This record gives sequence, C-alpha cells and structure tokens, in this order.
Amino acid sequence: MAKQISVKRSKPGPIADMAVDIVRRFPGHPARSLARKLVDEANGAIGLDAARCRIRHLLGQHGKESRERGDGGLRRAARRPGEGVEMPKSQAVPWTVYDLETVGKVGILSDIHCPYHDDTALRAAVEHLQEHGVSTLLLNGDFADFYSVSRHEKNPKHRNFLAEIEQVQQLLRWLREQFPDAKIVAKAGNHEERWEKWLWQHAPELSASPIMGLDNWLGLGELGIELVADKRIVMAGGLPILHGHEKGNGISSPVNQARGAYMRLHHTVLEGHGHRTSTHSEPDMMGTETVCFSTGCLCDLRPAYAPLNKWNHGAAVVTVREGGEFDVENFRIASGRVRTS
Ligand SMILES: [Fe+2]
Ligand SMILES: [Fe+2]
Repeated sequence: MAKQISVKRSKPGPIADMAVDIVRRFPGHPARSLARKLVDEANGAIGLDAARCRIRHLLGQHGKESRERGDGGLRRAARRPGEGVEMPKSQAVPWTVYDLETVGKVGILSDIHCPYHDDTALRAAVEHLQEHGVSTLLLNGDFADFYSVSRHEKNPKHRNFLAEIEQVQQLLRWLREQFPDAKIVAKAGNHEERWEKWLWQHAPELSASPIMGLDNWLGLGELGIELVADKRIVMAGGLPILHGHEKGNGISSPVNQARGAYMRLHHTVLEGHGHRTSTHSEPDMMGTETVCFSTGCLCDLRPAYAPLNKWNHGAAVVTVREGGEFDVENFRIASGRVRTS
C-alpha cells in the first residue's frame, strides 16, 4: 500500500515561507522542479515527496480542497511533464575568428580591386613579399572589384561580369604561381560581398546553393585558396586583421585611418579598405601599447568614380613568432618602388 504523505497546506514556518518564495520566483517552472529547489534550499530539512505535496498545495493541484481554496493566489492549472512555455532556441550563428595558425612571415595584399588593379604596384608588392620569403599570403579583401554586380550606377561599357570573373581567376592563378608553396587565404571584403548581395536580390532561390558560392565561381578549391567570409577576424599570431568594413560606418578619421580604427576598436588591429598607409600607437595608463595599422591599396589610384582621393599604394609583411608575438612592416609603394619609411 502506498505511503500517504500528509502536509498541512498552510502550516506556517520557515519551510512554508520558503515554498511560497520559490513558487513566486519561478512562476513558469513545473511542480517537480520547484519541489527539488525547495529540498535544496531547505538543505534536506524536507524530503522530495513532502516538498512536492507542499508545492502542489500552493499551486492548487493537490486534491479538491486545494483546488477550491488555493493558497495566496498562487494557483495554476496542472501541467504534464514537459509541458510549459519553452525559451525559443536562439538562431544566432557563433562569430568566431579565423586563425592563420602560422609562425613566420605573412604577406598581406589588400584592395587589389581586379581588374582595376595597378600592375606596377602589385608587381612591386609581390616581389617584396617574395624577397621576404613569406610562407602565408593573405588577400585581405577587395581582391576583386565586382563592378558588374555593384548596386551603384554602372557604365554599361564595363558591365561584363563573366569577363571580370575570368580576370579575377587569372589573378588568383598568377598569385598561386608566384607563391607555389604558400598557404593562401582570401578574406571577403565589401566588394566580394557584392556577389552574395546580388544573388539575394536577383536569384534568392539559388543563393544558398554551394554551387553559387564565390569560392566555387572563382575555383578557389583547385588553387588551394581558402575563403574567409562573414566578416570574420583573421588572426596572424596575436594580431587581429580586418578588411575594415566590418566596423560599419561611424567613427572614422579623415586625417589618420589607423587612429580612426583605434578610436573605434581600442585594440591592436591591422586593416585595409581605406586604401591608405597609416599607423597609430597609444599606451594606456599602465604602459601597455595598442598599435593600429592600415595598409595601402594595389588598385588604380584615379578611378572614374573618385579621381581625387587620399589613397596610396602599399602592402604589409607580418612576422609572427612562437607564442604569437609579431612585428609589422607596413610599407608604401611609390613609383614602383617599395618605401619602408
Ligand atoms: Fe577597397
Ligand atoms: Fe573595402
């Protein structure tokens, strides 16, 4: 015969007060969970069965008397196990960094904007990286211009997307030939993102297919080039690298892009996107130094849409040591020559 547990519904005392408090604090929890909390909070001064009876009394779920009288306005309909309002599952996708996992020299070429690149500047940058013997090459965004799929107004004479894709493929094949043994990573900048945005607008049904992915269109797999998308931070040892569009619009500096990055991020960073070489360093109160770098571009400095600008050619070599320490050579290129000061 089952053991009958008798609990006086309104027996006063600290455990009764505790039970009322628990029911009030956790209004959505099932009676069983509330009973467990009561046992825990009473340090075992009440058993689980007795705790359940007491909780169910409070909830008006323990026989006719408790249903009719309830207790302190805490009554609620009985729930089956598992019943109740669940917290919705988050749809957020974790945003993680991409680590180059490298020790040694990393060459960084940013803002090539193929097919509107500058032949002389790009060749000078590549030769300088070869002299350094870089083991990793990072194309840090805007390696393709994707003029044809831009949302901006376009000159119909230049709207040949297939030809543009072929020239970007040729550039990537050329770079692979220049650095046959290097790990090559291509980070998507705002210009590469034009492709995805164009798909969302013009072919939404196909946009999720891997066949339509930029890496597939550019044949990156065959060239052994990895694409980093979704505005992820690239890490070269302890140095975070951005293209620069990840921060959105907001604080910028018309005088010094690197200082603008510092004002926005308050963290050491290297970025492109602004097409200007600059550095800004600032120690904090305890003497820890934060250094921000912006690299120059390798594209035409006088494009039709912005013939007057403050751009300069340049690129960078990051030396990563064991443990993540790094040095940055943020060089300019002028008249086809590398300038390191
Ligand atoms: Fe750019
Ligand atoms: Fe950009």
